[in-house]
Amino acid sequence: RILVLDFGSQYAQLIARRVREQNVFCEIIRHDLDADAIARKKPAGIILSGGPSSVYAEGAPKCDPALFKLGIPVLGICYGMQLACNSLGSQVGHCEAREYGRAALKISQPTGLLAGLPAEMDVWMSHGDQVNQVSEDFVSLAATGTCPFAAVQHQTLPVFGLQFHPEVTHTPLGATILHNFLYTVCGCEGRWHLADFAKLTIERLREEIGDHRVICGLSGGVDSAVTAALLYKAIGSQLSCILVDNGLLRKDEQAAVLSEFTNHFKADLHIVDAEDRFLETLAGITEPQEKRKRIGYLFIDCFKEEATKISGAKYLAQGTLYPDVIESGAAPDGPAATIKLHHNVGGLPEQLGFELVEPLRDLFKDEVRKLGIELGLPEQLVWRHPFPGPGLAVRCLGEVTRDKLEVLREADHIVVSEIKAAGLYRQTSQAFVVLLPVQSVGVMGDARTYENAVAIRSVNTDDFMTADWSHLPYDLLARMSNRIINEVRGVNRVCYDISSKPPATIEWE
Ligand code: XMP
Repeated sequence: RILVLDFGSQYAQLIARRVREQNVFCEIIRHDLDADAIARKKPAGIILSGGPSSVYAEGAPKCDPALFKLGIPVLGICYGMQLACNSLGSQVGHCEAREYGRAALKISQPTGLLAGLPAEMDVWMSHGDQVNQVSEDFVSLAATGTCPFAAVQHQTLPVFGLQFHPEVTHTPLGATILHNFLYTVCGCEGRWHLADFAKLTIERLREEIGDHRVICGLSGGVDSAVTAALLYKAIGSQLSCILVDNGLLRKDEQAAVLSEFTNHFKADLHIVDAEDRFLETLAGITEPQEKRKRIGYLFIDCFKEEATKISGAKYLAQGTLYPDVIESGAAPDGPAATIKLHHNVGGLPEQLGFELVEPLRDLFKDEVRKLGIELGLPEQLVWRHPFPGPGLAVRCLGEVTRDKLEVLREADHIVVSEIKAAGLYRQTSQAFVVLLPVQSVGVMGDARTYENAVAIRSVNTDDFMTADWSHLPYDLLARMSNRIINEVRGVNRVCYDISSKPPATIEWE
């Protein structure tokens, strides 16, 4: 395995994904773990991530300098390179010309780390500091116009540094450099495959769970479905699934889960029809966070009531993913920063006295999708756009009522079907409709109308932290608009949301 030491880079997760894409398992750990603890993990190599600090700044994150003497190959990227070089006697300082964006890299040593690359190639730079002077132990492998040490190698220790970012797509040949590091320098053999992961996980789950019963919540989304599929392969009929239908799901969603379920598992399924209870708790509530809170609490109540009817359950399964684990700082050796707390069913396992099973906690979303396909789940489920826990309630601006939800569901269904028909569902990350608390004047036939306005929202994003609005073709937008106005009673105006995130968020509430 490869360890990525996280110095607060926005790209640490991306580095880990790029490594796994080359069939090498990779884990992100906190930067201050001591060298002995790192050695005990027996990594084939270590990558030091970038980070926002300057190595000379007070309190700048540092790694244990003994790390460089373990004999384990180290690749420092950006801040990681500056730190490695600085620890081994080189000078880091402000660059005269700060470099952000594309730069032309000239390679002087096209072997080892840089083998198989052209003499000149595009790389992505993003730094204000750089290594200005290397100690005599280092040699320069490549340079840019303003950065004489854009790639370096230590002469006696297996320590390498890159000032640019090989992990981003703007460094088109970055994968070759990572491949060289993993396979040539670290001697990895590329044995990490999702099919093996599935096999090992299924065996491990079987052993861990024994003959106990496991409860798994289904949401209609890919994470919970893949969790259930893995568990079903491991323990078959000892799995019970619960779907709480809060009445805030998309059109025909309960039926879709049910048919996917009966086609793919024969496990015990409990559907809780709780639409009335949710509408009741939301009556008169307009404030978004209050809606979320009420939905969350009632969800826990409904889930709990159903779970206690299932006798003999010892475990609760959750579809927690790796980014959730690292973002919540929950990994034992995870990065120190707690960004946000994620929990699919917050607080539930403790309250119910269950032990938690999280078979996806080492995986990224794209890996979960691949695993879903590997496990035989249908494409339309595996590639489904994400849907927020509070569902349509946060897309029905203002008070949520049964009638408004019906309008929203129909309009949403038209938008998603048209995007699918245009072959753009996979190219867009999330597409939906928002029902606005606005009425406007229209004319239909010869009569004046005064009806609702809806907004179509479609975004493209990698991580949902930033997003751009999808540049959908005009004729597709026209078809959506026509169909919504003609087919959905009560809507006479359709707008397209052209705000990016930030400053807007993806959802409207
Ligand atoms: P925003 O609106 O914050 O959304 O840009 C980013 C992503 O998160 C989803 N989202 C939620 N998911 N509970 C969830 O489970 C929520 O309360 C919630 N709010 C937003 C949103 O759909 C998008 O994918």
